[in-house]
Amino acid sequence: MPPIISIQNLSKTYAGGFQALKTINLAIERSEIFALLGPNGAGKTTLIGIICGLVNPTIGSVTVDGHDIIRDFRAARSLIGLVPQEVMMAPFETVWASITMSRGLFNKPKDPAYLEKVLRDLSLWDKRDAKVVTLSGGMKRRVLIAKALSHEPKILFLDEPTAGVDVELRKDMWQVVQNLRASGVTIILTTHYIEEAEEMADRVGVINRGEIVLVENKAELMRKLGKKRLTLQVGERLDAIPAALSAFNLTLAGDGHELVYDYDTQAERTGVATLLGELSKSGVRIRDLHTTQSSLEEIFVDLVQGPGPQP
Ligand SMILES: Nc1ncnc2c1ncn2[C@@H]1O[C@H](COP(=O)(O)OP(=O)(O)OP(=O)(O)O)[C@@H](O)[C@H]1O
Ligand SMILES: [Mg+2]
Repeated sequence: MPPIISIQNLSKTYAGGFQALKTINLAIERSEIFALLGPNGAGKTTLIGIICGLVNPTIGSVTVDGHDIIRDFRAARSLIGLVPQEVMMAPFETVWASITMSRGLFNKPKDPAYLEKVLRDLSLWDKRDAKVVTLSGGMKRRVLIAKALSHEPKILFLDEPTAGVDVELRKDMWQVVQNLRASGVTIILTTHYIEEAEEMADRVGVINRGEIVLVENKAELMRKLGKKRLTLQVGERLDAIPAALSAFNLTLAGDGHELVYDYDTQAERTGVATLLGELSKSGVRIRDLHTTQSSLEEIFVDLVQGPGPQP
């Protein structure tokens, strides 16, 4: 099956000359959860805005389920639900009126049973007659999701869905998103929370300064870029790293009771076997050892900061 969203050579230069996106090529597969990860100002909201028809692209094209977002705007847009980064809602409307109106905007026939299900799934049913202004910040975010789902979209964009949301609500939202995906909806979310990408995404795209610097299956990404740390507990306390081991990039930790060795899992030689051999030759007795894998967070910081100095 062709991808549900296809982005080709997309660039955006805002009036005033700032280039927010630089030649983006990206395909989103059906029913996947794709996390777009990037620092402030990377271009995440701009990219979503273009796909949803809120921002004009400067160069390039986007199709949504085969519909060109410009030539065939209505068809493309009707497939999309957007949960915007900023909360923008008529404050004195009730929750029910707000989602009914959102559905109406897409000329969908009334379907109160469907809207009831959406509100129940988001634990908002009890609040259906409350005015939006009286809701807490987290509940307002849920209303935004309900509005975005009101016209039964096949694709849902969540732009920073859980920014400023407490841990419990965040987990609830993750569950809502998983359920939606299970029902066949494709989800694209942006986040600063690595934990969120790590927890939810099937694939992760990293965007930095308007460029997609990496797109990878999450598990593969962690395997490929992951560094590992080997911690060795030594039998007798060491005052210094033995001279025979100076070729290895070791550090002494645990008040002289631990040797720490960082290595790249993808390197042709990790050096682990040689290190263990040298240790035994030098008479260093190993009591125990364990390895830890770097998290997506460390991988991300590495990628975004890069090796060079920051401007
Ligand atoms: N309407 C606009 N006019 C000019 N520049 C803009 C406009 N909107 C965004 N930008 C600039 O484009 C860049 C990308 O902004 P964008 O909102 O897409 O980033 P983002 O990745 O969503 O950031 P955040 O994580 O802070 O939400 C920023 O430098 C921003 O200042
Ligand atoms: Mg943004």
